Amino acid sequence: MLLNIVSLLLLVVNVLNGAQWPIPYERVSSRPPNNPYCQPGLILFCPTGQAKDSMIFAQPSDTIEIFALKKPVWSFKFGDLMAKFKIMHDALGFRSQLTGKNWTMEWYELDQLFNCTFPHVLPNDTFIWCNQGALCVYEGIVDSMWNGSSDLSMLKKIGETSGVFYETWSIWSDPGTAATLYFDSYDCASFVIRSLNTLSQYGVQFYSDVRLNYTRLNIYSQEPELIGTYDYIIQHTNSSLKNDFIKFYRDFDSKKPTTEDWLKSLLQIYESFFIQKRFYFYYNDVYWYLRLKATPLEVTFDEISIGEIIQPKYA
Ligand SMILES: *[C@@H]1O[C@H](CO)[C@@H](O)[C@H](O)[C@H]1NC(C)=O
Ligand SMILES: *[C@@H]1O[C@H](CO)[C@@H](O)[C@H](O)[C@H]1NC(C)=O
Ligand SMILES: *[C@@H]1O[C@H](CO)[C@@H](O)[C@H](O)[C@H]1NC(C)=O
Ligand SMILES: *[C@@H]1O[C@H](CO)[C@@H](O)[C@H](O)[C@H]1NC(C)=O
Ligand SMILES: *[C@@H]1O[C@H](CO)[C@@H](O)[C@H](O)[C@H]1NC(C)=O
Ligand SMILES: *[C@@H]1O[C@H](CO)[C@@H](O)[C@H](O)[C@H]1NC(C)=O
Repeated sequence: MLLNIVSLLLLVVNVLNGAQWPIPYERVSSRPPNNPYCQPGLILFCPTGQAKDSMIFAQPSDTIEIFALKKPVWSFKFGDLMAKFKIMHDALGFRSQLTGKNWTMEWYELDQLFNCTFPHVLPNDTFIWCNQGALCVYEGIVDSMWNGSSDLSMLKKIGETSGVFYETWSIWSDPGTAATLYFDSYDCASFVIRSLNTLSQYGVQFYSDVRLNYTRLNIYSQEPELIGTYDYIIQHTNSSLKNDFIKFYRDFDSKKPTTEDWLKSLLQIYESFFIQKRFYFYYNDVYWYLRLKATPLEVTFDEISIGEIIQPKYA
């Protein structure tokens, strides 16, 4: 998966000639094994999920109802607290009218959000990224989980489809981090948006009055500068850049929370955006240098209309 120097040089040339933003999210042809160093900690990934590559099948005569599901991130630990910051987790629900059975489908991190956002920096300065995300499909919708007391929580029927319904979701790859105009995110919300788009191509009818807002963590930056792969940075950049790069990630790694400290760490990370005003951004296995704007970070929770969701740009 590592970019070799040739393709890195091609990328550099592209960037110098005026980059085509946003940089496309790179698909991989197969899932690399997760490093055994990477552990999920408190909550296991997909404990009751179906086997890899399994999907929901329905009778051709069935009608499947589709639900938008939304709950505050880490609600199992903090209740509705994260809803105050509009940091929500999104998923999709499906219900068979024929059998009454229902399912939940969500895309999330194998080893928790913090591990996905920043790498582990070993004492000898090597990095380990625990940044894989995957789809989890399981039987049942636990209504109480999504129909919580926060205003932003949601368990809402948004559409239905009849007939053949065996999706080939192509959304099955690495996770991404925060989104800007330069790089689009690849998180649970964008998974849901892409999925709804795919469903509409299969003929799903959405209710036109459905209103859905999605969380985005926005970083505001000047035009990103490509610096290269980890190996390139270690071997070919000057020592001040190299040291700053390692220091940056070591700082964040040291904030990696123990189970009790999640919120504190989040606030520290938030603060360091405002003080340091620079960011090394990791995407498609290369690093970019970002000079942050006066307002470097913002969480938005904006409406995306059904009409916009089913436009080809999300396909
Ligand atoms: C990932 O994060 C969780 C919770 O923050 C933690 O318990 C776990 O040890 C982390 N994994 C690694 C490899 O550090
Ligand atoms: C860095 O340390 C790790 C863990 O001890 C080891 O596996 C790896 O080979 C070391 N890398 C280098 C470049 O020394
Ligand atoms: C999903 O199925 C469970 C178990 O039958 C039921 O308790 C729940 O109300 C259903 N939820 C929806 C949204 O259909
Ligand atoms: C979820 O909550 C809303 C508002 O309280 C209620 O109208 C709806 O019936 C609930 N849905 C389920 C499946 O419990
Ligand atoms: C090191 O490289 C960076 C990025 O190319 C450059 O901005 C900086 O001026 C260089 N520093 C020194 C001391 O050469
Ligand atoms: C949803 O988005 C719309 C449009 O961006 C905004 O006016 C509204 O306040 C948002 N709703 C919530 C609950 O934040």
